[in-house]
Amino acid sequence: MKSSEWDAQTVKAISDHLGPIYKIGGWLWPSEALLLAQYACDRVVLEIGSYKGRSAMAMAPFAKRLYCIDHFHPASLGQGYSPDSPGVRAAFEKNIAPWKGKIEVFEMTSQVAAKREWPPLGMVFIDGGHEKETVAHDIASFAAFIIAGGVMILHDTEKAGVKAALADSELVHSWQELEGVGTVRVFRKPNEAV
Ligand SMILES: C[S@@+](CC[C@H](N)C(=O)[O-])C[C@H]1O[C@@H](n2cnc3c(N)ncnc32)[C@H](O)[C@@H]1O
Repeated sequence: MKSSEWDAQTVKAISDHLGPIYKIGGWLWPSEALLLAQYACDRVVLEIGSYKGRSAMAMAPFAKRLYCIDHFHPASLGQGYSPDSPGVRAAFEKNIAPWKGKIEVFEMTSQVAAKREWPPLGMVFIDGGHEKETVAHDIASFAAFIIAGGVMILHDTEKAGVKAALADSELVHSWQELEGVGTVRVFRKPNEAV
């Protein structure tokens, strides 16, 4: 179902929950958070790139389960993050505390995480490293864990590295693009293997 097909009452209930998440540092816009929350509903979700927990908190109340992967050293990437990497994990833990029971955190790179066994996933949200190689790796590795009909969602798709990785990926060539809001794009895995 596309987000526009949700009934107005449910969308309002979700939006009301989202207000407090903007006290958490991050880059996710309200329209993007709403989209994530809607797609997370009743799905097992894996997120790459959690930072201080804004997107995790958008999804956690609605997801069946949420796996968060982050090495929690954003400053080391030199992407203009504030130089507070030692505090990022602590801030994340504090911010997600209300939904801790549903969230499992993996403090590691997505490259290491991809080597683990994951349960079948209904949704993967990619917002980790934004270099082409990293995004290409994250798409290719984690697409394999998504169930048929599940979704992969990317943030910052206007950024050069993300755009380039996406252009070469199976998502644009053999998955179905469902919709896009802000810098977020949503792709649905085909029912049959392609
Ligand atoms: C843009 S922030 C994520 C923001 C978060 N999704 C939100 O909306 O609140 C990117 C995060 O990805 C993490 N990151 C970058 N490269 C990574 C990698 N290769 N593996 C795991 N985490 C990574 C950084 O530590 C940073 O916290």
